[in-house]
Amino acid sequence: MDFLTLRGIHHTYFTKTSAVTALNNISLDVQEGEFVSFLGPSGCGKTTLLSIIAGLIDPSDGQVKLEGKSVKEASNQTGYMLQQDYLFPWKTIEENILLGLKISVTLEESKKEEVLALLGQMGLENVEKLYPKQLSGGMRQRVALVRTLATEPKLLMLDEPFSALDYQTKLKLEDLVSNTFKSFGKTAILVTHDIGEAIAMSDRIFLFSPRPGRLHKTFSMPEELRNLSPFEARNHPIYNELFQTIWKELESIEPEEY
Ligand SMILES: Nc1ncnc2c1ncn2[C@@H]1O[C@H](COP(=O)(O)OP(=O)(O)O)[C@@H](O)[C@H]1O
Ligand SMILES: [Mg+2]
Repeated sequence: MDFLTLRGIHHTYFTKTSAVTALNNISLDVQEGEFVSFLGPSGCGKTTLLSIIAGLIDPSDGQVKLEGKSVKEASNQTGYMLQQDYLFPWKTIEENILLGLKISVTLEESKKEEVLALLGQMGLENVEKLYPKQLSGGMRQRVALVRTLATEPKLLMLDEPFSALDYQTKLKLEDLVSNTFKSFGKTAILVTHDIGEAIAMSDRIFLFSPRPGRLHKTFSMPEELRNLSPFEARNHPIYNELFQTIWKELESIEPEEY
């Protein structure tokens, strides 16, 4: 059985004066344990599609199922991480990462220990009592990642989580996220407009075209790359070939844009 299935997703935003069709007839499947990317230029409906998969907005038409159930019923099975970390500035790091748990389940002491240990695994020592503003952007995104993992979602969705970070921090976080998700066997969807990031991190890439958002093409990453860390993958000769291929494909979608 497919883990996540999207069938005929269509979405139109209505405002007082206009109607914008954000997504047109999107059908795709994601297998359990797979890491996929939604790649495409800004405005092609990537965030809209994630919000639909998360059950946050209802599509105008079509169906989303997670393990055969509607995502509305399964909304506690999904976790969402955004470009901005959205940590609460008035709460400590510990309070921020335990927040999702307090809302969804009773907070057992053992579970609390586990989540705090996860901070250590992310290379964050002695930050529990600090406030978000005392941490760097990369550290805050690691805290956001711990908070997302804390509720043990079956499906993780990352909406451009590295795009506000400097290049070096971004490369390090790519490796950290990739290793963490592999070791936990998590299924994940990464939204990005960065071709290199999509190639380095994914098992498959769904390339979207804009106005309205459509699934343009699907690329399966070769075994050689999938077995490498994102950083190593970027140094593999196949990486450059794929980059050229996908670059040309993006150019054919939006030749004028720069
Ligand atoms: N809340 C909204 N109301 C009206 N239009 C929206 C809304 N959110 C997104 N859109 C429009 O839908 C299209 C897709 O947006 P979005 O899903 O944010 O794309 P992406 O994440 O790929 O940049 C864009 O044309 C955008 O302007
Ligand atoms: Mg977006």
